[in-house]
Order: sequence, then structure tokens, then C-alpha cells
Amino acid sequence: MTARPKRLRRCQLSVPGSSEKMMTKAAALGVDFVFLDLEDAVAPSEKRASRGRIVDALNNLDWGRSVRCVRVNDLTTEYAYEDIIEVVEGARENLDLIMLPKAMSAADVQFVDKLLTMMEKKLGLKKRIGIDVLIEEVEAMMRVNEIAASTPRLECLIFGMGDYSASQGVSIRDIGGSGGYPGDIWHYQRQQMTIACRANRIDAVDGPFADFRQPDVYREEARRAMILGMVGKWAIHPSQVEIAHDVFSPKPEEVARARAMMKAYDEALAKGLGAVQYEGKMIDIASVRIVKNITDRADQIGM
Ligand code: COA
Ligand code: MG
Repeated sequence: MTARPKRLRRCQLSVPGSSEKMMTKAAALGVDFVFLDLEDAVAPSEKRASRGRIVDALNNLDWGRSVRCVRVNDLTTEYAYEDIIEVVEGARENLDLIMLPKAMSAADVQFVDKLLTMMEKKLGLKKRIGIDVLIEEVEAMMRVNEIAASTPRLECLIFGMGDYSASQGVSIRDIGGSGGYPGDIWHYQRQQMTIACRANRIDAVDGPFADFRQPDVYREEARRAMILGMVGKWAIHPSQVEIAHDVFSPKPEEVARARAMMKAYDEALAKGLGAVQYEGKMIDIASVRIVKNITDRADQIGM
């Protein structure tokens, strides 16, 4: 079994695959992760033609260090299998992952896994194409543990609160916020999905926030997701990218403090102590495990 590649997903930018202009713009933004969309951002009349536009964009634009993904249509549509086949055959190694929306069960992810395995063999691809999956139906939330464990090819689950609101009957007007609900309306779902992801060593990412003229609310939504252990958030507009990169990067002073705490703990251990005072508070091995998440992130980002 090949190990899962480590990829940065502080921001996953959604780009309509029908728009050559937006794909060109997206390639130059320096975003961690871009997904070119064949699903909801593309009208049915444009879906087939957009596959070719996406293949051209993947093959001909300079994507720099951005991870390149394509969101296909869901498995109940007439589009999904040809989306995968045309995009993978056309872009080959210029594609890193397929994103599957509206998964209902582990079997849905396993179907895409098997199709990709066949295609990698036929095309002789040198690298494995990963899968990211959207959790955006109540059935998927109920089975999130099975979905998270469905295949080693799976790298990340994303909480898609737009379709999820519709699926559960949540009555809020705009995609992404709490809409007047007392407290955080997505607390349970974000927790549930993040626990399933961490238990299976895959990434948890928070979905879209539609009101892109409210950067402060977007930042707060991203911060809530980050505190719970998610590694990134979607952007639907270029103005959201920097905010997500910032929220999901540890601050230099946090990293320095984490490294200093680990050093203090090692020194305590050398003296035969398991728990000591640090900055006036108790630290022990659990404190070190918590801050190791920060230093691991910093190492991944190259801080
Ligand atoms: N990716 C790349 N470029 C984008 C972009 C995106 N997601 N969203 C906007 N842009 C570009 C615009 O083309 C425009 O470029 P220009 O300055 O060169 O003309 C610039 O960013 C500013 O855009 P703005 O004029 O503020 O908005 P708009 O009216 O062009 O686009 C949306 C607004 C909502 C239609 C657009 O952001 C969009 O389509 N977002 C993605 C939607 C999507 O993927 N939905 C499915 C997932 S939830
Ligand atoms: Mg959706």
C-alpha cells in the first residue's frame, strides 16, 4: 500500500470549470489547493464541454505549487463516470485528485477507487490519484466513520454545509453562516466529521461561505473549524484565499512557544520529572502531544 501523500489544504479554492478566465486567474493565485468544478458551479448545458476546458487548463497552465483537483458530478447523475474518464485520460499526471460530491456510503468512494485503479493500470500512470469526498447529505453524516475508513486512496473529507442544509432541512438563508441560530449551528457536524478524519489519519476541511463580502464572518467560521482540528476551508472567491491561509497557519510565536515547551519537557524528563511548571501552568506529555500538532503543521508549511 502506498502511503498517503501529505498535501497542504489550508485553502481549497473552487473554480467553475466552465470559465477559462477564472481557471487562468486561479492558477496564478498561489493557493494551496484548487479544484476545478464540473458539479454545481457548471450549468448542465456546459458540463460536457467543460471537461475539455478543464483538461486544457490542467495541461497548459502553470499551477505552481497548487494541488490540482477536479470535482466531478455525483454518482446518481449521468455525468459522473465520463467526467472521471475524460479528465483522467486527458490530464494524466497533471491531475492530483478527484473530488467526489454527495457521497452516501463507503461503497460510493470504493466505486471511484476501483475505477481509478483500472485507469491507472491502463494508462500506466506513475502516481496514484487521490480522492477527496464531500460529506453533505444526512446519510453521509450518519455513516461518516465508514466513509472515512473506505479506502487508503481517500485523503480528505470536506463538510459541505450548503447541500447539507438542504438535506437536513436546516432553515438558514445563506450558505455557510449560522443564520441567527444561537451559537454555532455546525458544531456537531464539524466535530463528528473531524473525529472520523483524525481516527483515519485523513484531513478534515470546512466547506464554503457564500457571502464573500463579509471577510470577518468568513474568518470567524474558519477559526471555529481550525480550533476543532480541521486543516483548511474552502474559498469560493479569490478574496477568501489569504484569510484561509492565514487562519490555518500557526503564528510564528505559537510555533516558537510550542518548540520551547517541548524542550522544557525534555529537560524535565532528563531530571526524572513527568509534570512540571511552564509559564506558571502544569505541562506533561499530553501538553506536548497538543503542541506537536502545531509543530507538525509548521514543518509541513515549512515554517
Ligand atoms: N476562481 C478564480 N477567479 C475568480 C473566482 C474563483 N472562484 N471568483 C471570482 N474570480 C475572479 C473574477 O473572474 C474576477 O476576475 P477579474 O478581476 O480578472 O475580472 C475577480 O476574481 C473578482 O471577481 P468579482 O467581480 O468580485 O466576482 P464575480 O462576479 O466575477 O464572481 C462569483 C462572483 C460568486 C460568481 C464567483 O466568485 C464564482 O463563480 N465563485 C465560485 C463558485 C463555485 O465554484 N461554486 C461551487 C462551490 S460552492
Ligand atoms: Mg454540494
